[in-house]
Amino acid sequence: MSTTIHEANDTNVARAVTLLRSGELVALPTETVYGLAADASDANSVANIFSAKGRPANHPLIVHVASADAAKSWAREWPEAAQKLADAFWPGPMTLIVKRAAHVLDAVTGGQDTVGLRVPSHPVAQRVLAMFADKDAALRDHSVPGELVEPRGLAAPSANKFGHVSPTSAQHVAAEFVDDDLFILDGGACEVGVESTIIDLTGSAARILRPGRIRAQEIERVLGRELAQSSSGASTPRVSGSLDSHYAPRKKTFMFENDALDLFLDASRDAGKRVGLIHHSDRFAKHRVSARVTLSHETAARFEHDIYAALRDLDDSTVDLIAIEMPPSGSDWEAVNDRLRRATYQPS
Ligand code: TXA
Ligand code: MG
Repeated sequence: MSTTIHEANDTNVARAVTLLRSGELVALPTETVYGLAADASDANSVANIFSAKGRPANHPLIVHVASADAAKSWAREWPEAAQKLADAFWPGPMTLIVKRAAHVLDAVTGGQDTVGLRVPSHPVAQRVLAMFADKDAALRDHSVPGELVEPRGLAAPSANKFGHVSPTSAQHVAAEFVDDDLFILDGGACEVGVESTIIDLTGSAARILRPGRIRAQEIERVLGRELAQSSSGASTPRVSGSLDSHYAPRKKTFMFENDALDLFLDASRDAGKRVGLIHHSDRFAKHRVSARVTLSHETAARFEHDIYAALRDLDDSTVDLIAIEMPPSGSDWEAVNDRLRRATYQPS
């Protein structure tokens, strides 16, 4: 038995659903990053996610469902803001934090009174979620006739070991879980490339907990009001992605801009270090480095799409360290800047 990648045809989607129903983990594509999915209503399956990832148990998981209607059945309250955002951005790369319904497991929420909900748009995720939630199929499987069928959803963190770079292809997932026995559905390269925007709707004003492809201004436009300022530094990490160091390559990774990057590259070469460089400006095209990835910064979306694969390529290469040219600033660039700050965080 070993980790295997499967084409997402009807047969393999059905196999994935059967595995999920029997309590196994399955890796599946979403439009943001690949997820490591388990039946969100089965405490043992959810526990398997934490052990497979090596993730601390108090970190909550996002529940994925096929539609906004399905999402509502995981929430105790469905504020007007949730409906507006769901109408505007689901299916898509957005997670809403709302008060949890009574049936939601503590293992999913990390014991909190809230739950993260997302309706992914990736067609493979949609097919798996729809088939997994199919009530008739659920009754056929193991329910007593006439028994109330609980809402069914998939708890799914990014399909990487805790703290590591999120996977944006089936091959990335396989590399993370080589020693496990994981069924991976292949949905190609993820269109978005960074994790969903997380919006907390449990306070007096909506607040972004993790920036993503759905930008702050779009959210404010839909809500017709300003977002609360994101605060950080709370002692319990409600968002594990809010840990200072996260989304990180194994190799030492640094980020500089302009002259500071010039100096760093020169000094590293003088010290005999093999440097892998990720850059987007022409001025760094002339530096002699051991490996290089040149990213387009024409749009933040394009950069987001490519950045995790670039980090992995260099992490897997023979370089000693990775140097990143700081991406442009500005509101569209918040998600990549957030992730790269955490990928390059050096505890002092
Ligand atoms: O795009 C995504 O969101 C991907 C794909 C697979 O859907 N998933 C993902 O999951 O990034 P994960 O577990 O790697 O990150 C989800 C973040 C975690 O940092 C977690 O702490 C936070 O969401 N989260 C989940 N439920 C929460 C809650 N009730 N309150 C606050 N944060 C929550
Ligand atoms: Mg993650």
